[in-house]
Amino acid sequence: MITQQIPHATTISALRTRVRSWRDDRLSVGFVPTMGALHDGHISLVRLAKAQCDRVVTSIFVNPKQFAPGEDLDAYPRTLMDDAEKLTDAKCDLIYLPTPEIMYPEGYSAGVTLKGPALGLESAARPHFFDGVATVVAKLFNQVRPDMAFFGEKDYQQLLVIRQLVKDLDIPVEILAGETGRDRDGLALSSRNAYLDADQRRRAGQLNVILKEFAAALEAGTGHKAAREIAYTAASETFDSVDYIEARCAATLAEPGDGPITQPARVLAAVRLGSTRLIDNRAAKPPA
Ligand code: PAF
Repeated sequence: MITQQIPHATTISALRTRVRSWRDDRLSVGFVPTMGALHDGHISLVRLAKAQCDRVVTSIFVNPKQFAPGEDLDAYPRTLMDDAEKLTDAKCDLIYLPTPEIMYPEGYSAGVTLKGPALGLESAARPHFFDGVATVVAKLFNQVRPDMAFFGEKDYQQLLVIRQLVKDLDIPVEILAGETGRDRDGLALSSRNAYLDADQRRRAGQLNVILKEFAAALEAGTGHKAAREIAYTAASETFDSVDYIEARCAATLAEPGDGPITQPARVLAAVRLGSTRLIDNRAAKPPA
Protein backbone atom coordinates (compact mmCIF):
# COMPACT_ATOMS: atom_id res chain seq x y z
CA MET A 1 0.00 0.00 0.00
CA ILE A 2 1.36 3.44 -0.89
CA THR A 3 1.33 6.40 1.47
CA GLN A 4 -1.49 8.91 1.51
CA GLN A 5 0.79 11.61 0.01
CA ILE A 6 -0.89 11.35 -3.36
CA PRO A 7 -4.43 10.23 -4.25
CA HIS A 8 -4.53 6.84 -5.91
CA ALA A 9 -7.20 4.64 -7.44
CA THR A 10 -7.03 0.87 -7.68
CA THR A 11 -10.39 0.26 -9.38
CA ILE A 12 -11.91 1.50 -12.62
CA SER A 13 -14.89 2.98 -10.77
CA ALA A 14 -12.69 4.93 -8.30
CA LEU A 15 -10.64 6.22 -11.24
CA ARG A 16 -13.76 7.27 -13.15
CA THR A 17 -15.31 8.97 -10.12
CA ARG A 18 -12.23 11.15 -9.74
CA VAL A 19 -11.91 11.94 -13.45
CA ARG A 20 -15.64 12.68 -13.69
CA SER A 21 -15.37 15.23 -10.87
CA TRP A 22 -12.62 17.02 -12.82
CA ARG A 23 -14.72 16.91 -15.97
CA ASP A 24 -17.68 18.41 -14.04
CA ASP A 25 -15.34 21.30 -13.17
CA ARG A 26 -14.37 21.59 -16.88
CA LEU A 27 -10.76 20.63 -16.21
CA SER A 28 -8.66 18.96 -18.91
CA VAL A 29 -7.03 15.59 -18.18
CA GLY A 30 -3.58 14.40 -19.21
CA PHE A 31 -2.45 10.79 -18.92
CA VAL A 32 1.00 9.19 -18.61
CA PRO A 33 0.88 5.38 -18.86
CA THR A 34 3.88 3.64 -17.25
CA MET A 35 5.03 0.30 -15.92
CA GLY A 36 6.58 1.98 -12.84
CA ALA A 37 10.28 1.95 -11.83
CA LEU A 38 10.05 5.62 -12.69
CA HIS A 39 13.11 7.57 -13.80
CA ASP A 40 13.62 11.17 -14.89
CA GLY A 41 12.32 10.36 -18.40
CA HIS A 42 8.92 9.38 -16.96
CA ILE A 43 8.89 12.36 -14.61
CA SER A 44 9.62 14.76 -17.47
CA LEU A 45 6.52 13.33 -19.23
CA VAL A 46 4.47 14.01 -16.09
CA ARG A 47 5.81 17.58 -16.00
CA LEU A 48 5.02 18.01 -19.70
CA ALA A 49 1.50 16.75 -19.00
CA LYS A 50 1.15 19.18 -16.08
CA ALA A 51 2.17 22.03 -18.36
CA GLN A 52 -0.49 21.07 -20.94
CA CYS A 53 -3.42 19.84 -18.82
CA ASP A 54 -5.25 20.88 -15.65
CA ARG A 55 -5.02 17.43 -14.06
CA VAL A 56 -2.68 14.48 -14.64
CA VAL A 57 -3.21 10.75 -14.10
CA THR A 58 -0.20 8.39 -14.15
CA SER A 59 -0.86 4.67 -14.35
CA ILE A 60 1.55 2.06 -13.05
CA PHE A 61 0.83 -1.40 -14.40
CA VAL A 62 3.38 -4.03 -15.42
CA ASN A 63 1.41 -5.41 -18.35
CA PRO A 64 1.82 -9.19 -18.64
CA LYS A 65 0.50 -9.18 -22.21
CA GLN A 66 3.59 -7.41 -23.54
CA PHE A 67 6.02 -9.96 -22.08
CA ALA A 68 6.64 -13.32 -23.75
CA PRO A 69 7.33 -16.43 -21.64
CA GLY A 70 10.99 -16.26 -20.56
CA GLU A 71 11.13 -12.43 -20.65
CA ASP A 72 11.59 -10.38 -17.48
CA LEU A 73 7.96 -10.03 -16.29
CA ASP A 74 8.71 -11.36 -12.78
CA ALA A 75 12.06 -9.60 -12.51
CA TYR A 76 10.77 -6.26 -13.87
CA PRO A 77 11.66 -3.66 -11.18
CA ARG A 78 8.73 -2.73 -8.92
CA THR A 79 9.45 0.36 -6.81
CA LEU A 80 6.03 1.67 -5.84
CA MET A 81 6.95 3.74 -2.76
CA ASP A 82 9.76 5.45 -4.62
CA ASP A 83 7.50 6.02 -7.66
CA ALA A 84 4.79 7.57 -5.46
CA GLU A 85 7.31 9.98 -3.97
CA LYS A 86 8.55 11.06 -7.40
CA LEU A 87 4.99 11.53 -8.66
CA THR A 88 4.13 13.59 -5.57
CA ASP A 89 7.13 15.85 -6.25
CA ALA A 90 6.07 16.18 -9.90
CA LYS A 91 2.55 17.23 -8.75
CA CYS A 92 0.80 14.31 -10.42
CA ASP A 93 -2.86 14.44 -9.36
CA LEU A 94 -3.75 10.75 -9.32
CA ILE A 95 -1.91 7.43 -9.56
CA TYR A 96 -3.92 4.65 -11.15
CA LEU A 97 -2.81 1.21 -9.96
CA PRO A 98 -4.95 -1.48 -11.55
CA THR A 99 -4.25 -5.13 -10.72
CA PRO A 100 -3.86 -7.84 -13.40
CA GLU A 101 -7.30 -9.15 -12.30
CA ILE A 102 -8.88 -5.77 -13.04
CA MET A 103 -7.19 -5.45 -16.42
CA TYR A 104 -7.62 -9.07 -17.49
CA PRO A 105 -10.39 -10.72 -15.43
CA GLU A 106 -11.19 -14.39 -15.85
CA GLY A 107 -12.71 -14.98 -19.27
CA TYR A 108 -10.95 -11.96 -20.79
CA SER A 109 -10.59 -12.62 -24.50
CA ALA A 110 -10.21 -9.37 -26.50
CA GLY A 111 -6.99 -8.12 -28.02
CA VAL A 112 -5.70 -5.62 -30.55
CA THR A 113 -3.62 -6.87 -33.48
CA LEU A 114 -1.53 -4.52 -35.55
CA LYS A 115 0.29 -4.10 -38.82
CA GLY A 116 1.74 -0.83 -40.23
CA PRO A 117 4.40 0.69 -37.99
CA ALA A 118 4.24 -2.33 -35.67
CA LEU A 119 5.89 -4.56 -38.29
CA GLY A 120 9.64 -5.23 -38.16
CA LEU A 121 12.27 -3.72 -35.81
CA GLU A 122 11.05 -4.53 -32.27
CA SER A 123 8.50 -7.04 -33.59
CA ALA A 124 11.21 -9.19 -35.19
CA ALA A 125 12.63 -10.09 -31.77
CA ARG A 126 9.41 -9.60 -29.76
CA PRO A 127 6.45 -10.55 -32.01
CA HIS A 128 3.97 -10.45 -29.09
CA PHE A 129 5.06 -7.02 -27.88
CA PHE A 130 3.03 -4.39 -29.74
CA ASP A 131 -0.23 -6.34 -29.65
CA GLY A 132 0.20 -6.46 -25.86
CA VAL A 133 1.06 -2.76 -25.65
CA ALA A 134 -1.82 -1.71 -27.93
CA THR A 135 -4.30 -3.86 -26.00
CA VAL A 136 -3.39 -2.41 -22.62
CA VAL A 137 -3.11 1.17 -23.91
CA ALA A 138 -6.55 0.95 -25.60
CA LYS A 139 -8.00 -0.34 -22.31
CA LEU A 140 -6.25 2.37 -20.27
CA PHE A 141 -7.51 5.07 -22.65
CA ASN A 142 -11.07 3.74 -22.25
CA GLN A 143 -10.70 3.66 -18.48
CA VAL A 144 -9.09 7.10 -18.00
CA ARG A 145 -10.60 8.86 -21.05
CA PRO A 146 -7.90 11.55 -21.11
CA ASP A 147 -7.76 14.56 -23.44
CA MET A 148 -4.04 14.04 -24.03
CA ALA A 149 -1.64 11.16 -23.45
CA PHE A 150 2.14 11.40 -23.24
CA PHE A 151 4.72 8.90 -24.52
CA GLY A 152 8.52 9.06 -24.65
CA GLU A 153 10.40 9.25 -27.95
CA LYS A 154 12.82 6.65 -26.61
CA ASP A 155 10.26 4.02 -27.59
CA TYR A 156 9.89 5.60 -31.02
CA GLN A 157 8.22 2.65 -32.73
CA GLN A 158 5.78 2.37 -29.80
CA LEU A 159 4.96 6.08 -30.20
CA LEU A 160 4.06 5.59 -33.89
CA VAL A 161 2.10 2.43 -33.08
CA ILE A 162 0.01 4.33 -30.49
CA ARG A 163 -0.60 7.21 -32.91
CA GLN A 164 -1.82 4.71 -35.52
CA LEU A 165 -3.91 2.88 -32.90
CA VAL A 166 -5.89 5.96 -31.83
CA LYS A 167 -6.40 6.93 -35.47
CA ASP A 168 -7.56 3.46 -36.52
CA LEU A 169 -9.84 2.90 -33.51
CA ASP A 170 -11.17 6.50 -33.39
CA ILE A 171 -10.04 6.95 -29.80
CA PRO A 172 -10.50 10.66 -28.98
CA VAL A 173 -7.13 11.39 -27.37
CA GLU A 174 -4.27 13.57 -28.56
CA ILE A 175 -0.88 11.84 -28.41
CA LEU A 176 2.07 14.00 -27.39
CA ALA A 177 5.73 12.97 -27.39
CA GLY A 178 8.41 13.80 -24.84
CA GLU A 179 12.12 13.87 -25.70
CA THR A 180 14.28 10.97 -24.56
CA GLY A 181 15.80 11.55 -21.11
CA ARG A 182 19.53 10.75 -21.05
CA ASP A 183 22.27 10.12 -18.50
CA ARG A 184 25.43 12.21 -18.58
CA ASP A 185 27.10 9.92 -21.14
CA GLY A 186 23.97 10.05 -23.30
CA LEU A 187 22.58 6.61 -22.38
CA ALA A 188 18.80 6.74 -22.83
CA LEU A 189 17.06 6.41 -19.45
CA SER A 190 15.29 3.08 -19.05
CA SER A 191 14.00 1.10 -16.09
CA ARG A 192 16.02 -1.85 -17.45
CA ASN A 193 19.35 0.06 -17.08
CA ALA A 194 19.15 -1.11 -13.44
CA TYR A 195 20.07 -4.62 -14.66
CA LEU A 196 23.50 -3.52 -16.03
CA ASP A 197 26.73 -4.26 -14.14
CA ALA A 198 29.54 -1.66 -14.14
CA ASP A 199 31.25 -2.90 -17.32
CA GLN A 200 27.94 -3.27 -19.18
CA ARG A 201 26.89 0.21 -18.02
CA ARG A 202 30.11 1.69 -19.47
CA ARG A 203 29.57 -0.06 -22.81
CA ALA A 204 25.87 0.87 -22.85
CA GLY A 205 26.89 4.55 -23.11
CA GLN A 206 28.26 3.85 -26.60
CA LEU A 207 24.85 3.13 -28.11
CA ASN A 208 23.87 6.77 -28.43
CA VAL A 209 27.34 7.66 -29.72
CA ILE A 210 27.05 5.07 -32.52
CA LEU A 211 23.53 6.30 -33.37
CA LYS A 212 24.67 9.94 -33.38
CA GLU A 213 27.47 9.07 -35.81
CA PHE A 214 25.04 7.07 -37.97
CA ALA A 215 22.64 10.06 -38.10
CA ALA A 216 25.51 12.47 -38.84
CA ALA A 217 26.70 10.26 -41.75
CA LEU A 218 23.19 10.24 -43.27
CA GLU A 219 22.88 14.00 -42.82
CA ALA A 220 26.24 14.41 -44.61
CA GLY A 221 24.85 12.48 -47.61
CA THR A 222 26.34 9.01 -47.04
CA GLY A 223 24.03 6.34 -48.46
CA HIS A 224 21.90 4.37 -46.00
CA LYS A 225 23.52 1.03 -46.83
CA ALA A 226 27.08 2.28 -46.33
CA ALA A 227 26.26 4.30 -43.17
CA ARG A 228 24.37 1.36 -41.73
CA GLU A 229 27.26 -1.05 -42.31
CA ILE A 230 29.64 1.24 -40.39
CA ALA A 231 27.11 1.58 -37.53
CA TYR A 232 26.48 -2.18 -37.49
CA THR A 233 30.21 -2.96 -37.28
CA ALA A 234 30.71 -0.48 -34.42
CA ALA A 235 27.70 -1.88 -32.55
CA SER A 236 28.80 -5.51 -33.07
CA GLU A 237 32.24 -4.67 -31.64
CA THR A 238 30.72 -2.99 -28.57
CA PHE A 239 27.73 -5.12 -27.62
CA ASP A 240 27.18 -8.83 -27.08
CA SER A 241 24.73 -8.88 -30.00
CA VAL A 242 22.80 -6.50 -32.25
CA ASP A 243 19.10 -7.13 -32.95
CA TYR A 244 18.93 -4.29 -35.46
CA ILE A 245 20.49 -0.96 -36.29
CA GLU A 246 18.95 0.86 -39.24
CA ALA A 247 17.41 4.04 -40.56
CA ARG A 248 13.69 4.28 -41.28
CA CYS A 249 11.31 6.99 -42.50
CA ALA A 250 10.51 9.08 -39.39
CA ALA A 251 6.79 9.29 -40.21
CA THR A 252 6.00 5.69 -41.25
CA LEU A 253 9.06 3.56 -40.41
CA ALA A 254 9.23 2.50 -44.06
CA GLU A 255 12.69 1.42 -45.24
CA PRO A 256 14.51 4.28 -46.99
CA GLY A 257 16.45 2.33 -49.66
CA ASP A 258 20.23 2.02 -49.96
CA GLY A 259 21.12 5.54 -51.12
CA PRO A 260 21.14 8.91 -49.35
CA ILE A 261 17.96 9.66 -47.40
CA THR A 262 15.54 12.12 -49.00
CA GLN A 263 13.04 12.49 -46.11
CA PRO A 264 13.35 13.00 -42.35
CA ALA A 265 14.56 9.68 -40.93
CA ARG A 266 15.06 8.03 -37.60
CA VAL A 267 18.02 5.79 -36.84
CA LEU A 268 16.95 3.05 -34.47
CA ALA A 269 18.80 0.25 -32.69
CA ALA A 270 18.28 -2.62 -30.29
CA VAL A 271 21.34 -4.33 -28.80
CA ARG A 272 22.02 -6.78 -26.01
CA LEU A 273 24.44 -6.73 -23.09
CA GLY A 274 24.15 -10.03 -21.24
CA SER A 275 20.43 -10.56 -20.70
CA THR A 276 19.64 -6.83 -20.92
CA ARG A 277 18.21 -5.45 -24.14
CA LEU A 278 18.78 -1.73 -24.84
CA ILE A 279 16.93 0.34 -27.43
CA ASP A 280 17.50 3.91 -28.57
CA ASN A 281 16.97 6.15 -31.59
CA ARG A 282 17.94 9.54 -33.03
CA ALA A 283 16.52 11.86 -35.69
CA ALA A 284 18.38 12.35 -39.01
CA LYS A 285 17.54 15.15 -41.45
CA PRO A 286 18.03 14.62 -45.19
CA PRO A 287 21.16 16.34 -46.54
CA ALA A 288 20.53 19.97 -47.57
O1 PAF B 1 6.28 2.19 -22.45
C1 PAF B 1 5.79 1.56 -21.50
O2 PAF B 1 6.19 1.72 -20.33
C2 PAF B 1 4.69 0.55 -21.77
O3 PAF B 1 4.89 -0.10 -23.00
C3 PAF B 1 3.27 1.14 -21.68
C4 PAF B 1 3.04 2.18 -22.76
C5 PAF B 1 3.05 1.77 -20.31
C6 PAF B 1 2.22 0.04 -21.88
O4 PAF B 1 2.33 -0.95 -20.90
